[in-house]
Amino acid sequence: MTPEPAAPTTGDPGVLRVALLGYGVVGSQVARALVENADDLAARSGARLELVGVAVRDASRPRDGVGTVVPASLLTEDAEALVDRADLVIEVMGGLEPARSLIRRAIAAGASVVTANKALLAAQGPELFEAADAARVDLAFEAAVAGAIPIVRPVRESLAGDQVRRVLGIVNGTTNYVLDQMTTLGLDLSDALAEAQALGFAEADPTADVEGYDAAAKAAILASLAFHTRVSIDQVAREGITGVTAADVVAAATTGHVVKLLAIAERTAEGVSVRVHPALVPAAHPLAAVHGAFNAVFVEADGAGPLMFYGQGAGGRPTASAVLGDLVSAARDRLSGGKGSYESAYASLPVLPADAAVTRYQVRLVVADRPGVLAQVAGVLADHGVSIDAVRQTTGEESADGTASLLITTHAAREASLAATVAAVDGLGSVHEITSVLRVEGV
Ligand code: NDP
Ligand code: HSE
Repeated sequence: MTPEPAAPTTGDPGVLRVALLGYGVVGSQVARALVENADDLAARSGARLELVGVAVRDASRPRDGVGTVVPASLLTEDAEALVDRADLVIEVMGGLEPARSLIRRAIAAGASVVTANKALLAAQGPELFEAADAARVDLAFEAAVAGAIPIVRPVRESLAGDQVRRVLGIVNGTTNYVLDQMTTLGLDLSDALAEAQALGFAEADPTADVEGYDAAAKAAILASLAFHTRVSIDQVAREGITGVTAADVVAAATTGHVVKLLAIAERTAEGVSVRVHPALVPAAHPLAAVHGAFNAVFVEADGAGPLMFYGQGAGGRPTASAVLGDLVSAARDRLSGGKGSYESAYASLPVLPADAAVTRYQVRLVVADRPGVLAQVAGVLADHGVSIDAVRQTTGEESADGTASLLITTHAAREASLAATVAAVDGLGSVHEITSVLRVEGV
């Protein structure tokens, strides 16, 4: 039987009890705003949002703002008991467990939930959305994709009457910061990553950032919303930035590109292609101008045409902004006895395998500098049906060691064809090394 949502706690002007799970980078800023902006939040919600507790792993540890902004008595290590006495639960602890069980517990008790946990949603979203829909409570997650940027609501609600064709996003602040520092200052990857960690953008385990798992989780969420199809993180083709070298960044510039880690969700005639990988983006594309830890999501829809959403995708205060926006909406829904948008998966399109993706490529290789070699390489591409757009020889015509560097840009080709082509080119005796293979997007 569908449970009735729990009634607001008290009468005029009404109080809704808020449980906060986590007091880290994001949670501490959410707590601060709940206390410091309490009057505005009450006026916007229609009820006072009373912070009734903050769950952490270690309640005895000294923390900024605790004892000054937030009463120390609110900290607890008993998250379950806290959830049981809340009307609204904010989950900003991260990870799969106990976050999942606590959210299930809150929903079962009739509380609405706001979460920033993309890893959980990308892995177990359908189960949680079904539970929330059945209980007629909100499960809101604007902060889970691109921090402060309103992107979940626009894709799900504002574009509900349109057909989204493609989403191209810079959705990980850490990797954008790292690639941008490599591009603009010539830093190496590890120094730039250490800076991003110190600035609070990186995940607790930065592997999630640099290997593309964080972006893949966000890609799965965006693709699910854009194409009304359930996409989980394990269906996202993923490649991180650890293979990107300073030489790749320099070579990109010579052809008028910058290197970005992109989350891509595309609707094709065959289904939906969802992938995360480093890509060359033309310098004139709006995504090329996204610097530092900023995020941006470029959406192409049939009716609306191109749309660009830009802003801070990480950090405590920006992410708290999105969390609080969801909280106010969830409070209003609760007071009106309604529920926000239901998740829609009606289209149920096939999610395509990684090798079905179609895009352009730039291949750098070192070859023997002698007559006929270029024709040989071009012949292999032709044999595999991969069409060449441009070839550039990047060393002088007569290099000292008898080699030349070639940079070949292809027209759109299937990932599987390109992979077979690269393997065949690599097998030519005249080819010394395939230096890099990068996809070109945003053309
Ligand atoms: P932090 O690691 O900074 O904070 C996590 C908090 O949750 C800590 O207070 C921790 O307690 C608490 N916590 C963790 N596990 C438990 C547990 N088992 N029981 C009780 N408390 C627990 O994470 P962030 O604030 O950076 O991120 C939180 C969520 O927001 C994640 O899902 C993340 O992906 C997402 N997010 C983060 C962004 C960012 O810029 N940081 C941006 C967008 C989303 P203790 O302090 O005692 O260790
Ligand atoms: N680690 C993430 C990033 C935080 O760098 O974008 C925001 O999800």
